[in-house]
Amino acid sequence: MTTSGARLLLVALCVYGGQGLQQSAPRVRLSFKELLDTRAARPFSFAFNTSDYRILLMDQDQGRLYLGSREYLVALDMQNVNKEPLIIHWPASAKRKGECQMTGKGRQGECANFVRLIEPWNRTHLYTCGTGAYQPICTFINRGWRAEDYLFRLVPGYADSGKGKCSYDPNQENIAVLIDGNLYAGVHIDFMSTDAALFRTMGGRTAIRTEQYDSRWLNEPVFLKIQQIPDSAERNDNKLYFFFREKSLDSVSGASPSVLARVGRVCLNDEGGQKSLVNRWTTFLKARLICSVLGEDGVETAFDELRDVFIQPTQDEKNPVVYALFTTAG
Ligand SMILES: *[C@@H]1O[C@H](CO)[C@@H](O)[C@H](O)[C@H]1NC(C)=O
Ligand SMILES: *[C@@H]1O[C@H](CO)[C@@H](O)[C@H](O)[C@H]1NC(C)=O
Repeated sequence: MTTSGARLLLVALCVYGGQGLQQSAPRVRLSFKELLDTRAARPFSFAFNTSDYRILLMDQDQGRLYLGSREYLVALDMQNVNKEPLIIHWPASAKRKGECQMTGKGRQGECANFVRLIEPWNRTHLYTCGTGAYQPICTFINRGWRAEDYLFRLVPGYADSGKGKCSYDPNQENIAVLIDGNLYAGVHIDFMSTDAALFRTMGGRTAIRTEQYDSRWLNEPVFLKIQQIPDSAERNDNKLYFFFREKSLDSVSGASPSVLARVGRVCLNDEGGQKSLVNRWTTFLKARLICSVLGEDGVETAFDELRDVFIQPTQDEKNPVVYALFTTAG
């Protein structure tokens, strides 16, 4: 949402009762008024002085929706997003903001704590990370046992380093998922955002990552989606899939596409190599996703720039439906 008032629009997932939009042709544009007319949308009317809103997590247990933004975490009631939202203010310290400014970063206001990760930790707590004014930090949130507890607050005095969990630069996309106490994250690990990796941290196991500065593993990736998808009933076989786009290795030739859509995979039980690939994934694989359309003139248009991915569970958890949004690289 980029309206100047930085208003957030939440589109409730209702089935149209034949009202409002009646055209059957696909639409690429929907005005704000038309959207309201469908009665399927409820504007969220709190302003946090930012347009950096990301919906990060739906909490089915408590009927809440957690939202991360610049310096704020919000828990919304899924039935009525304007009903007494629970709000946490989580700014970077003034000292840290000052240090960040000194480095020359933050001309567009990046020297603030942008919340980029909210994941369930246990029955009562969530884990959250923010960019921390170019010094990523993480902590726990106590959300209580039940919605009626009305609890939503940071665990006082607790802070973890967010390195390898959250990018420094709020403009970099990052993806992360917590599985059995291990955090798997596709992030830029360094201050300058030159070292991108798929990283496993936390949970007492050895930290593992993709090879550093090796463009054959990852070449300036933009991470889009990460999800565990089992491929058998055997838990030891569990795999993690991650969707991204990256620069093509032979894009210099001009003939091949400059950007490639990718799906990558690692095994959750990967412990890294013994002699080679120490602390590196030994199960890392990636494949190209090809989406192309043959026009009437016989010319093929390739849509190589993967922009977003949505994974819809089905009855069979091994076979979810994957929706992907592609565009032409340009
Ligand atoms: C809103 O944020 C901008 C920086 O992004 C800041 O300069 C301004 O003072 C803030 N306004 C309020 C009302 O907090
Ligand atoms: C959840 O984790 C937090 C942080 O480690 C801990 O303080 C809390 O006791 C745990 N709650 C339960 C129910 O295990």
